[in-house]
Amino acid sequence: YEPGLSDRFGRRFSYLRLSVTDVCNFRCHYCLPDGYQKTDQPEPLTLAEIAPLLQTFAQLGTRKVRITGGEPSVRKDLTEIIDLTARTPGIEQVALTTNGYRLADQIDDWHRAGLQRLNLSIDSLDPEQFGAITGYHHLDRILAGLERALTLGLDVKINAVLLRGFNTERLQQFLDWIKDTPVTLRFIELMETGNNPVFFAEHHVSGEAIRQQLQASGWQAKTRAQHDGPALEFTHSAYRGKLGLIMPYSKDFCASCNRLRISSLGKLHLCLFGEQGYDVRPLLQPGIAPAQLVAELEQLLGLKHETHYLQSGNTGATRHFAMLGG
Ligand code: GTP
Ligand code: 5AD
Ligand code: SF4
Repeated sequence: YEPGLSDRFGRRFSYLRLSVTDVCNFRCHYCLPDGYQKTDQPEPLTLAEIAPLLQTFAQLGTRKVRITGGEPSVRKDLTEIIDLTARTPGIEQVALTTNGYRLADQIDDWHRAGLQRLNLSIDSLDPEQFGAITGYHHLDRILAGLERALTLGLDVKINAVLLRGFNTERLQQFLDWIKDTPVTLRFIELMETGNNPVFFAEHHVSGEAIRQQLQASGWQAKTRAQHDGPALEFTHSAYRGKLGLIMPYSKDFCASCNRLRISSLGKLHLCLFGEQGYDVRPLLQPGIAPAQLVAELEQLLGLKHETHYLQSGNTGATRHFAMLGG
């Protein structure tokens, strides 16, 4: 018996994706094409609620926490959230996924608070095209933030969603860039969500086609270790950077699932797709024994399905990824 959270399929979960807000200040076509729409929903989890949540997850074997959004940096207390996470006994890795809008201004504070890993979304290296995809012409300030993060020694991954008619005609520009840029660049296959079926039909490109293209040009696929995440990694001796390919539509993608998600309103999501989430916020309130949350989480894990069933057309409850942090 190994301690920690696991499911009926023998998968173990030592990685938590904690969404701290569903608000975003960009309008990526595939996610929030009209920008964030304000609703009168409750406030996101507070620091006082996040603290017991992290303690319990750490006690159940969580070693890595990735802070996501929406865009996490719209929260004024993001640095405090990072600090709290890094100081939680048992948590060994603190990571953040961001669109980079506030990176240049804030990375020094985040780093000081304990941030070690950063995933940064850059869907195009062409400033015009970047603006067309995300709705804002902010590529320059994002690249300045990236420079600073690398200078501070953070481990950086760049996310680029593959989009026919946008960046797939310019993959060479990305490849040239990582010749001398020490980052892992991940091409992500566009996923269909409740909100983007028309955009998806027009712009989806199969990751498999890209994989063949890469292997034909000398990129070597790494053999996967047991607890690797969803990205298939490639290296090339002539490049400082590495490549990753995230292919959610490929066979067995879910077999290596190692993560759980908590939404900004405190719901546990067992998958990015396919279920509504289970509210654990009431168990984060003062006076509630931590054992109650432990028991609830262990029971909920029994409900996790084997796969996301995207192949059968499921987009589940997920309208867009800003809801859940991807
Ligand atoms: P690390 O392994 O910690 O670097 O995380 P990551 O690559 O999963 O994190 P990131 O936030 O950068 O997400 C990159 C892309 O992977 C996003 O498009 C996510 O939606 C996608 N992704 C991450 N986890 C899952 C998952 O469990 N299922 C699916 N279908 N996609 C996922
Ligand atoms: N398909 C694939 N990736 C997506 N992201 C957001 N929505 C989608 C989608 N429908 C990406 C963002 C970011 C990461 C967290 O998820 O571009 O890099
Ligand atoms: Fe915002 Fe990320 Fe969605 Fe783009 S993909 S709109 S940056 S949450």
